[in-house]
Amino acid sequence: MTKIIVRTNPNLALIKYWGKRDEALMLPTKSSLSVGLNALTTETIITQAEDRDHIKLTFSHSVEAVQKIQSFINLFRTTYGVKNYFSISSSNDFPTAAGLASSSSGFAALALGLATASNLNLDDRQLSILARRGSGSAARSIAGGIVIWHKGQLPDGTDCYAEQLFDQHHWPELRILIIIVNDNEKKISSRDAMRLTVATSPSYQNWVASSEDRLEEMITAIKAKDFTSVGKLAEQDWYGMHDAMRDTTPSLDYWTSTSYTVIETVKQLRAQGHNCFFTTDAGPNVFVCCHKDNVAIIKQTLASLPGVLGSIESTVAGKPTVTTL
Ligand code: PMV
Repeated sequence: MTKIIVRTNPNLALIKYWGKRDEALMLPTKSSLSVGLNALTTETIITQAEDRDHIKLTFSHSVEAVQKIQSFINLFRTTYGVKNYFSISSSNDFPTAAGLASSSSGFAALALGLATASNLNLDDRQLSILARRGSGSAARSIAGGIVIWHKGQLPDGTDCYAEQLFDQHHWPELRILIIIVNDNEKKISSRDAMRLTVATSPSYQNWVASSEDRLEEMITAIKAKDFTSVGKLAEQDWYGMHDAMRDTTPSLDYWTSTSYTVIETVKQLRAQGHNCFFTTDAGPNVFVCCHKDNVAIIKQTLASLPGVLGSIESTVAGKPTVTTL
């Protein structure tokens, strides 16, 4: 029986996605830009099954996680008129307990694996549109490298997909340090939290409106490898997302005191001449970007802060790989 092995990487947004204009189709209110994280990999193995779908996640026992995947498989079958069942086994080579978002790599792997196992010849745009239906950020994990996810305008979402702007060789000196911060609280899901932000945050619309210019400037800065401008724009975008989350009702607070200490320390390191910048997702971990020559001092300084559990160093990831055995 043919066995498909797909390897994908999660991605980190420097211009964020937060909020949908269409919940069912997962269409975002704004375009976003991300880098793939080479140090983190999801591996998903897919074979055809006889009687029903079989889903095994080595990183989660959550019923909701399995249900989300089952709904995605059902949606895939309906969209492409596929009749088969699948056996799916998915694992991450990074500690999911550390709160590192694996939905981007997870649904990208699933979209690629299901399409390959069904002999559908989907291009990257179609795969990105498919992956988006599992988790918005998964749209970006199909393309690899440095990626733009176009928000699109059409009501059916056919122009809402991600594409590669620069491959993984564009900026070989760029490093992303994932600073792992303890997370004990059960947080509201990003899906529910986004809905609340769009509905209640007074600052949200301004952040969205200012984002298109920021995105254009970000692309220019990345093209020129202008690290200082990239950092400034990424932090501006983060502050906008953070403020909108904080003035949501009820207020969303994904960060711990350690997260804020890491952020302050990044600013101090920068003031001391070690060029670096930070961003976060909807969680307490802090992502710190820097030039490879600055990694040692930044890593050492941040790892010694109380509450920091560890760090992972990453370069920019390439495209996903698919192996058929
Ligand atoms: O698609 P989701 O549910 O993983 O949402 C991702 C939202 C952020 O990580 C906070 C921002 C982003 O653009 O990835």
